[in-house]
Amino acid sequence: MSGKQKKPWGGRFSQPTAKMVEAFTASIHFDKRLYRYDIEGSIAHARMLSKQGIISKKDERVIVKGLMAILAEIEKGRFAFKPEDEDIHMAIEKALIAMTGEAGGKLHAGRSRNDQVSLDVRMYLRDEIRQIVEIVSRLKASLIELACKEDGTILPGYTHLQRAQPVLLAHYLLAYWEMLDRDEERLCECHQRVNIMPLGSAALAGTGLPVDRAYVARLLKFPEISHNSMDAVSDRDFVAEFIFVASLLMMHMSRFCEDLVIWSTGEFQFVEISDAFTTGSSIMPQKKNPDVAELIRGKAGRVYGDLIAVLTMMKGLPMTYNRDLQEDKEPLFDAVDTVKSCAHILCEMAGHLKFNREKMLKAASGGFSMATDVAEYLVMKGVPFREAHKVVGRLVAYCIEKKRDMPVLTLAEFRRFHRGFEQDIYAFLKVEHAVHSKKSHGGTSKKNVSLRIKDIRGRKK
Ligand code: ARG
Repeated sequence: MSGKQKKPWGGRFSQPTAKMVEAFTASIHFDKRLYRYDIEGSIAHARMLSKQGIISKKDERVIVKGLMAILAEIEKGRFAFKPEDEDIHMAIEKALIAMTGEAGGKLHAGRSRNDQVSLDVRMYLRDEIRQIVEIVSRLKASLIELACKEDGTILPGYTHLQRAQPVLLAHYLLAYWEMLDRDEERLCECHQRVNIMPLGSAALAGTGLPVDRAYVARLLKFPEISHNSMDAVSDRDFVAEFIFVASLLMMHMSRFCEDLVIWSTGEFQFVEISDAFTTGSSIMPQKKNPDVAELIRGKAGRVYGDLIAVLTMMKGLPMTYNRDLQEDKEPLFDAVDTVKSCAHILCEMAGHLKFNREKMLKAASGGFSMATDVAEYLVMKGVPFREAHKVVGRLVAYCIEKKRDMPVLTLAEFRRFHRGFEQDIYAFLKVEHAVHSKKSHGGTSKKNVSLRIKDIRGRKK
């Protein structure tokens, strides 16, 4: 039975909470994952209360000892999480009071669950962000490793999924490195805004008790404290920001995976994903499916959903705390779990990719991938680009009609299209030339790519 005496807030109530309301409002089944942060936060709060003379040294010792005992119980799996305790904050406080009596009852002075929950989520999220940064930098390192291993491998670059211009595979891989590098940077910037200490904002107005918020911040290793109690208890912009950053990261991983899905088809055969990272079909014995890549692609949508859930939950909330805010946690936890597992498995899978260099090279050489180079050749001979474009377009149409590749045309044939063509055109029709001539900064030439790898490797961190 959940009698009125059992609730810490039960004083003004004459009837017990309906069971269905307890079940409906409870968040303990998911916010229990915050237990460690809740306890650490409470210990820091108790230390501050005693330093400020709000509670005695003895009470502090009793409270800290009690909280440590609860921590041990939870970690041993012996703590009973009950829906009638509502959330992790009340469950721990209630257990503390049951264990320590009056001393435990002094802990909640100068704080509220409103600032407490913000503190816990911030502590949780800053830890998770650090871990995600770590995984992303491993993923980046595996791309660099692949780029070095595939040094010299050429494949067609695509636009509209039509063969466009040949590029180095290393250049392609480094493109993802750049995207992930920005994701990492965004994670670090988001971390700064998460890493702000809200405790002491109390319910919404601050507290009349002589608390030392900066001291709590030091104990909990926060570089900064929040400056407005109403802002501190009511906003979850840091949650939304993190999920947005996670969404971008998912989007980047999803696009890489999409390429792997396409490249591993029988039609492309550019890459083989190792057996360990593929699955079979229950009916078709020949199948080897890129399910991991597909799931990463699919899970990107799930993280976007988490973002929309939080943004929508926030948009109409009157100041300050409203219970709607409890709905931030499941999307946040889901986004954290999803992005972590995806980045981790992608990092492992990337290390087990086998690229088919011959297939890639062959594909890069066909499909008139050098047409732009032929146009640029004419530009170098003084032909206006628009005219060169037309000339080469006609050349391509001619080749298609005659069912011949451009490199096998005779010089006389070339010259029928433009007098500017000379013997040296044949050098421009080589795929290696097409790649290595792209020396503009950021282009795909081998020199550029090697320099960028050197740059990246030389970076501190
Ligand atoms: N479980 C609540 C949450 O996640 C904690 C804060 C409850 N505060 C309140 N005034 N009911 O938001």
